[in-house]
Amino acid sequence: MKSYYELKHLLFKREQWKNIEGIIGKIDKLYMLAEQGCTSEVHKIITRKGCYLLKSSFEEKYTEWLKAEAQVLKKLNSQRQIAVPKYYGFFEEKLSSHLLMSFEDGIILTSALEQAKSQSEKKSLIRSFGHFLKQLHAISEMDLLNQNVDWLESQLIKAEFYVKHGQTEGSSQLLENLKANKPLPVEQTVIHGDCTTDNVLVINGEACLFIDVAGMTIGDPRYDESLAIRSFVNDEEYKKAFYEGYKRYKVSKKEFHYFDEGLYEFF
Ligand SMILES: Nc1ncnc2c1ncn2[C@@H]1O[C@H](COP(=O)(O)OP(=O)(O)O)[C@@H](O)[C@H]1O
Ligand SMILES: [Mg+2]
Repeated sequence: MKSYYELKHLLFKREQWKNIEGIIGKIDKLYMLAEQGCTSEVHKIITRKGCYLLKSSFEEKYTEWLKAEAQVLKKLNSQRQIAVPKYYGFFEEKLSSHLLMSFEDGIILTSALEQAKSQSEKKSLIRSFGHFLKQLHAISEMDLLNQNVDWLESQLIKAEFYVKHGQTEGSSQLLENLKANKPLPVEQTVIHGDCTTDNVLVINGEACLFIDVAGMTIGDPRYDESLAIRSFVNDEEYKKAFYEGYKRYKVSKKEFHYFDEGLYEFF
């Protein structure tokens, strides 16, 4: 575990810490979270004013995602329709970027499912996830987010860029396949954009907040739906529980594979 002072020298110029303390007050404690994501390093910061989360990225692709996440959170600060952390600031250094947001209570759904003591507790968590996602997909317009963009088209363009620059494990052959076999369009809605069980926080058995929202935009809800069910797609009972909450469109097997084993490979 890095100490505050190690981190202080590693990541930031002294002025950056001053900037942060200017926003959230003097830092009393700072420590690395036990639970880390795949693209970032997360630290909890405690000051007299409250608890904050500092999310840091160090690779080019991931610092771009972090910037996108910062932009989304900043825009969403002014609304209450979608539950996400509160934005406090974004700091760019030469070799790293850092997003400061509110620290939110709860645990990620993946952990909640691991800790659940019974089948019915698991199903109830999954049902709640479905319901929570349904509410997000019920929003078809939001001035704050990008409208009038063909989301799938723009994701395929991004995927092509990653292939060209060796920044993805997805192959160019898979990409050609995806371009040639696009599913028939459905109405675009607000989407999370990386809606796995890792990116939803649960409190008291209820899914209640989205994190990791770099991809939140107006897009194809089938992408979220496919990523949401990917960890239990072969379990009919869990799937049933999800759709009891989601009560919306049900992806076909073909659509599921287009998104989960297809498009998702590039991101
Ligand atoms: N605002 C937050 N409040 C509390 N914990 C958070 C918050 N954001 C992220 N976390 C924790 O940090 C971990 C990594 O965050 P995440 O944004 O998913 O990173 P990555 O993009 O690397 O997947 C999460 O699994 C969660 O445990
Ligand atoms: Mg994540």
